[in-house]
This record gives sequence, structure tokens and C-alpha cells, in this order.
Amino acid sequence: MCGIIGIASDKSVSSNIINSLKRLEYRGYDSAGLATLNNNLIIEKKCSGRVEQLEKIIFESPVKGNIGIGHVRWATHGIPNTVNAHPHSSEIVSVVHNGIIENSDELKKKLEKEGVKFKSQTDTEVITFLITKALESSDPLDSVFLTLEKLKGSFALGILFKNHNNIIIGARRGSPLAVGYAKNENYLGSDSYALKSMTNKISYLDDGDVCVLNKDHIEFYNQKKTKINKKVLVLSDDARSISKGDYKNFMSKEIFEQPITIKNCMNEYIDKIRNQINLYDFPIQPDKIDKITLIACGTAYHSCLVAKYWFEEVTDLDVEVDIASEFRYRNIKFKKNNLYIFVSQSGETADTAAALELCKQNNAKTCSIVNVVESSIARLSDWVLPIHAGPEIGVASTKAFLGQLLVLYILILKISKIRGDVSEKEIIKKIDDLKKIPDALNQVLKIEDKIQVIAKDFVNAKGTMYLGRGLSYPIALEGALKLKELSYLHAEGYPAGEMKHGPLALIEDGLPVVVLAPNDKYFEKTISNMQEVIARGGKILLITDKHDEVISENLRFKLEIPFINYLLTPFIITVPLQLLAYHVASLKKCDIDKPRNLAKSVTVE
Ligand code: AGP
Repeated sequence: MCGIIGIASDKSVSSNIINSLKRLEYRGYDSAGLATLNNNLIIEKKCSGRVEQLEKIIFESPVKGNIGIGHVRWATHGIPNTVNAHPHSSEIVSVVHNGIIENSDELKKKLEKEGVKFKSQTDTEVITFLITKALESSDPLDSVFLTLEKLKGSFALGILFKNHNNIIIGARRGSPLAVGYAKNENYLGSDSYALKSMTNKISYLDDGDVCVLNKDHIEFYNQKKTKINKKVLVLSDDARSISKGDYKNFMSKEIFEQPITIKNCMNEYIDKIRNQINLYDFPIQPDKIDKITLIACGTAYHSCLVAKYWFEEVTDLDVEVDIASEFRYRNIKFKKNNLYIFVSQSGETADTAAALELCKQNNAKTCSIVNVVESSIARLSDWVLPIHAGPEIGVASTKAFLGQLLVLYILILKISKIRGDVSEKEIIKKIDDLKKIPDALNQVLKIEDKIQVIAKDFVNAKGTMYLGRGLSYPIALEGALKLKELSYLHAEGYPAGEMKHGPLALIEDGLPVVVLAPNDKYFEKTISNMQEVIARGGKILLITDKHDEVISENLRFKLEIPFINYLLTPFIITVPLQLLAYHVASLKKCDIDKPRNLAKSVTVE
């Protein structure tokens, strides 16, 4: 992960570097640093912890310089401390890096034999010293190309050179990198979001590209060192959605934004007057598809699991779901009539991007469902379906998950219609039902105060389990993931029917267990599984849309949620689980938007 920034300007850059690093903190927040060039000297400031800490250091001891680089870190090699924080500098070169250098041990040993003394435990420092050595006999651009030849792994780099005090060199392989243009100022950054407060004119580097920027000009080279031109994109202004408003943190804002997120996304894809789905430019003939493979990581993977159930309910298609980090190394037999769908909020997740790359190499048909339309995954796929959720800043994905579910559901309806699996009349009914989701979400958000009370039961628990069947099984996985990443409490999601095959042994007196039992074909079965847990001392939180008193016996808590149609329950039943994770984490005083050890955009393997 990690975030990098570089600014070449005609004025002092340190405060803009700090501001950009704050915007990049979603990529890593265990340490931060910057380096500028002033009076032909590299000035480096770094610290463990947040950008706020770095800002204090710079406030107490200001850093001059009209050119500089900055970094927020998510540790891969070496613990998060000041020494391992980036930039990593020699006398003449300073480097910030996002990615992993896989052959760093080997390179380090060679350099040590040549007399280099390393200060940090990072893989990045080898880049610094490889460039430093290369500079003995070449200019900055050649020294970078010579170094890149030696590196295995993934990287986005920003490099400053003491004796060439007007340039920053950037390079990309695997990890994303963008440049931005402004008057008397040019930028380098891990993404457009980092640059957005300074410019809306952006270009993206492709794999293998290198750029050289000064305050007036940016040059691009491909991996053969041939000069190339880049398209300049003008970004839309969605700056307003990037503020927390009156909310305590981004996550609560994003949870409460979900009714509007769903409405906005629906407006993009549904013609409400004609009750038609607007999905144009389908580059693949859906009636020529025999099989769908959905690929993603984390929460996005859970949305794919939900989609598998939907596909099976409304089409005759064969559907598979894969975790991207597994898919990319499996011996896949690519078939002509298989469509590969990639789901990713950020569009930058390294494993998902690598799985997509593998599909492209095998000439497979690809489609991506992303929130960030300028992302690497979007740019690489044959067809892109944006989820239009607006920027999601909280590390725990909430509104993007519902957005992914919605786009997947709409895509499934469209495919099933073209294939003739579902009649026009049924599609119209299903679209009518979709329109009811925002109101139902508003209703479910009103039970927040009850959830706040329920959360107290979880704070000191040893652990917890989330159980569901059918469409509620992936939601149980998602509920458990939310709780663990936000509150650091052990949580397991399980198919309720699988408990008796082992996990029932975990149930002991007082263990809180969340049971998802919507009024679907599994209802009675799930309730029986719940009774088995109660009989062993489990303290149940039942979440259901069956509003009936009989099942309330022996429950610790019961939350009733609105019902639209059983296929749409995943949208509604997810929200109380997001709120539960949020309130348990708040009670435990955890950092809601930036849970420990995590980052929003996972750009390493
Ligand atoms: C979600 O709460 C997580 N932080 C994480 O699982 C995330 O969904 C995963 O890393 C995939 O990210 P992406 O959607 O940006 O590809």
C-alpha cells in the first residue's frame, strides 16, 4: 500500500505535501515523512504515526524548498518506526516507494559487499543506493532506468536528486501513479485524490512508464526509454463529498449516506419511467456467455458471493466466485464463453488487478465493477460499470458494498433478460422492488439507538459468531469482517447449517451470536440452528424481517428490519451489522476510520 506525493513548484512545497499526505492516509498511516531540496541539500523529516505528527514536527521546525516528495507508509519490510519511514535518502538521492521489492535481500547483500551501510530494514533503501551508485556514471534518467532493470516486484516511485534540483522522477510497475498539471507547479501522486485539491488535470502512468517532472513541464518515457505522450484527463469536482460534514467520522457518514448512494446509482442505470435497465455498449453478447467468474477481495468478494446466489436464482448460468489472491496463481482453464467480472471499490487492489491482468493475457472477456472510474482496474477491463457511490474514505467499506450489490443485481437482471431467463413482466416487478430500497434503508437506520445498546454485550466478549443461510451467509461473512476490522474482536461468519460440523464446539455460556434469519426458504432451518446455539448457552441477537412474536423466546435481542422481496434482503440486513461493528468499535475507543494494521487501498500482494 503506502501513498506517495511529489511536488515541483516555484514556491515552498512542504505544506502542500502535508495536505496531500493527509488525503493519502487511507493508503497507510503507520508512519509518514517528506524530503525537500533546499540550497542543494536534501532535508528529510519523518516520524512513526500519523501525518498529524509530521505536521507538528514541520510546524516546530519548518522545512524550506520548492521541490519535494512525501510518503505515508503501510509497513511491509520493517516495523513502523522513524528509521523505516520514507523517504530513504543517501547523500545525493531521496526516494519514496509504494509496493514491494521482492529481490531486496539479494540486492542488499550485493550492495553491502560494495560497502553500502543500510540504515533501515526496508526494501526501499536498496533503490536509493542502486540509483546513487548508478549516478556515478550516468544522468538521473539513465540511473533510474538502470536501477529499474534490477528490481523485481511492484513499485511506484518518487525520486529527488541533490545535484539536479529542479526535477522529480517517477516510475511505475504494478503500483498506481498519476501526475497532475498546474501553473508553475507539477505533481506526482499515488492517485488523483491526492492531487485534487491542487489540480483537476491528471495523466496516469502505465506499467513500465517513467516520468520526469519540473515545475513547468512533464516528460514521459515507456519502458524502452522512448518518449511518449499522455492523455490529460479533466476530473469532475466531487470535493464536497470528501468532507465529514456533521458526522464524527467518515464511516458513520458513509453508513448514513447509503439510501442516497443507492438512489444515485439507480438513477444511473434505471430508466424509472419506462422501468428499463440502461446498460449500454455491452461489448460481450450475454446470450453467448455460458459461465461467469466473479473475482475480488475482502468485502468486494462478499458482494460477489451474494451475486452468485442471485445469478443462480434468476439465470441458468454457471457461476463461480474466486478470491483474487488465489485466482491469480491457480491453473485456470480459460474458456471463450466465460465472462470474468472484477469487483473493487478502489480499483487498485493489487491481487484483483493481477487476476485481471492474467485474464487479459489469456484473451478472456472482462468486466469490472468499481467505485473509482479512473482506477487501474477500470482502465484495464473491456467494460466498466461504475458504482457511483462517491469517494469512500473509511477503511471499512460500507456504502461501496451496497453499491457493488446494486450494480451486480442490475447486471444480473440485464443478462437474464437478454438470455430470456426472466420475462419482461418479472423484470418490471423486480425494478419496482429495487426502487423501495432507499426507504427501507432509511427505516433500518432508525434502529441505531437499539444497536448502540446491543453493542455493549459485545465489548467484553471473548469472540462472536455470525450465522446465516443462502443469501444471508455471505452477509454473515461481511458482518463478521466488519466487526473484526473495526473492533479487533474475533468474529467468524458461518453458514448456519455448518455449525454442527465443528464450530458448535466454540459456543459457551454467554457467547454473543448474531443470527440472520430473513423470511426466506431457509427461515425454519436457520431458526433450528439458532435453537442449537441457544441450547449451548449462546446469547442470540436475531435479525429478521419476519415480524412475528413466536420466535422471540430465549433471545437476548431481536431486531426487526423491513421486507421488500427475499432477493433484496442483503441490502437491508447488512446495515444493522455495519452499525453494530461501528458501535462496538466506538465503545472500545478504536480508530473508526483507520483501523490498526489496515489501509483502504491494498496495492501490495
Ligand atoms: C472492507 O471493509 C475492507 N477494508 C477490505 O476487505 C476491502 O473490501 C478489500 O481490501 C478490497 O478492496 P477493493 O474493493 O478496493 O478492491
